[in-house]
Amino acid sequence: MDWKKLQNLTKKDIRKSCEIIARDEKTIPEATAIKYFPMAVAKAKGSLVWDADGNRYIDFLTSAAVYNVGHGHPAVLEAVKAQMEKLQNYTIVYFYNDKPVQLAEMLTASIPGDFPKKAAFGFGGSDAVDSAIKAARAWTGKKWILSFKDSYHGMTYGSLSATGIVDSRTKECLCPDSRIAFAEYPDPYRNSWGIDGYMEPEKLTEAALGTVRQTVANLEGGLAGILIEPVQGDGGMIFPPGAFMQRLSDFASQQGVVFIDEEVQTGMGRSGKMWAIEHYGIVPDLIVSAKALGGGMPVSALVGRADILDSVPVPFFAYTHTGHSINCAAAAATLETIQKQNLAKQATEKGERIAQWFREKAQSFPFIGDIRQQGLLIGVDIVSNKKKRTPDKAMALKISWAAWERGLILITFGKNGNVLRVAPPLNIPDELLDEALEIMNASLEDAAGGKVPEDILPLLKGW
Ligand SMILES: Cc1ncc(COP(=O)(O)O)c(C=O)c1O
Repeated sequence: MDWKKLQNLTKKDIRKSCEIIARDEKTIPEATAIKYFPMAVAKAKGSLVWDADGNRYIDFLTSAAVYNVGHGHPAVLEAVKAQMEKLQNYTIVYFYNDKPVQLAEMLTASIPGDFPKKAAFGFGGSDAVDSAIKAARAWTGKKWILSFKDSYHGMTYGSLSATGIVDSRTKECLCPDSRIAFAEYPDPYRNSWGIDGYMEPEKLTEAALGTVRQTVANLEGGLAGILIEPVQGDGGMIFPPGAFMQRLSDFASQQGVVFIDEEVQTGMGRSGKMWAIEHYGIVPDLIVSAKALGGGMPVSALVGRADILDSVPVPFFAYTHTGHSINCAAAAATLETIQKQNLAKQATEKGERIAQWFREKAQSFPFIGDIRQQGLLIGVDIVSNKKKRTPDKAMALKISWAAWERGLILITFGKNGNVLRVAPPLNIPDELLDEALEIMNASLEDAAGGKVPEDILPLLKGW
């Protein structure tokens, strides 16, 4: 990335950020990042972030849907400090510790289902997906996992193998797990069947289930589990028809396989409920959680049916730092904050307000093609032709560049790289939300009015 060129395209002083970026590029491999703006983050509090040069931003990315409770939430900081002074951690691979036990109790109580439950811990979404794959295989004695095209599940071997959004030929050089099959996720707005899933959700459900049945039939009884995001996040915030999710879950039970609800991005209140799967009234066998779970600390959890989790042979969930005391203390404080302050309700109210705002803006900005929202899971699909729903990645990047320039962190994502990702903290104060929407308006005008230099496009990677 030519950051020096980018530096010339902004009015901001970003010299300190650029120094850090130059050092980063010498020492940290490129594969670590899909970089957007020339910005090194130095400080954050609540819904605000400052870069190394002191520029202030409102955070509509929350470190990739991590800070549901905001940056540096006092309850999380307090829990971390108290735990740090008492005991950093002692491995639960050999002994016992109350912090992971407390978190397991809280998590098992938070998920749907009237059966004995347990929780296994890790550090990020990727390893928790790996654990889910292990559990499905151990419990069924079968090998195949059904995943979905354009899904994102992580970058460890198992989770990367199950990730659909990465080009399979590129992935091939890493020799991924070959026993993962992919079916098309029912995207109501754009799909290979040419069905308008908003107008005909039943038809889309039928088409997608047909593909699932066919794919599974080809596995000749070898299916162990179905791994699915209840809303496809990095795919571009895609909401499948409710009937599809319900019938897929029924199909999993009929087949006697494990239904894995992958909530790394959608969980912890962001959808307007603690877990997005609750919107469908489904009881999954296992739920995968990470990102927002730790309130900024690295912790993941695989929560669900005790019999399935207990089928994994000893010691295949044993990592030295699993159930780390500080991370678990932070997660318990985060969960408690979300529950006690009813942040899911705030997500519902703020999300509706933002979606309504975009619906009004769509009257004057024809490139706003589709607004997808549930709570503060929001994707705004930018198109060059509204009728044909043609993705416009360049316009989406211009909007996000203009927003960054004006002090709002807003990136793009999606299978076509053309979706604005709106993911503020669930407790963003009203006055900051007002300010963010003013910036958003000015950014839409900048992009529409040709005020964003074309020269940024070759320099921004984006999804
Ligand atoms: C849905 C989903 N699953 C899994 C992951 C991987 O999580 P991590 O990056 O914490 O390993 C991500 C990360 O973006 C995600 O969005």
